[in-house]
Amino acid sequence: MPPMSDITINGHKIEVLFAERTISKRVDELAREVASVKPQQLLVVPVLKGSFIFAADLLRAFYDAKLLPEVDFMMLASYRDKTVSSGQIEVLRDVETDVRGRDVLLIDDILESGRTLAYAKDLLVARGANRVMVAVLLDKPGKRAVSIKADFCGFECPDKFVVGYGMDMAHAYRELPFVGHVLNPDK
Ligand code: IMP
Ligand code: MG
Repeated sequence: MPPMSDITINGHKIEVLFAERTISKRVDELAREVASVKPQQLLVVPVLKGSFIFAADLLRAFYDAKLLPEVDFMMLASYRDKTVSSGQIEVLRDVETDVRGRDVLLIDDILESGRTLAYAKDLLVARGANRVMVAVLLDKPGKRAVSIKADFCGFECPDKFVVGYGMDMAHAYRELPFVGHVLNPDK
């Protein structure tokens, strides 16, 4: 864990959990980890929207790691009310690429209940992908509802609602270059 600090933005007090430099070093390592499994005909699929910054940085790190992926996108929505996740996933935007016989790397921001990524993984396996791997920036293992493991994970995350580096609170704070926890969401 990096040294903790608090930052106040627009009245929200945000506790920094993962600093910019900490994330960028880990992203470079993750690219090397992905390269080490020697993916074949690699198709990278960021799951929108929360993964967009992590995916952009990881993909640029693939250049130094000598990976030559193709990239396509998926947008998924999971329905939940405040307390219960219904477990229902809807595909809002599907990949245009035929995944048959290919190695696919799904990228997401957080693995929480696991429902979103388990759904995406099963879908691509059913379409004939050779191997479907999962890369997430953060893992909240305490919240898992279905059995799924990330093949590549940036950091284990405490059971706190986090924002930044693509992740939002009501569409705000995606632009933050660090990951933080909003201490006073109802300010
Ligand atoms: P699950 O694994 O299906 O429960 O879904 C994980 C998704 O929930 C992530 O891709 C995020 O979009 C969202 N999510 C979970 N925890 C957080 C959080 O702390 N901040 C922002 N989004 C979150
Ligand atoms: Mg998401």
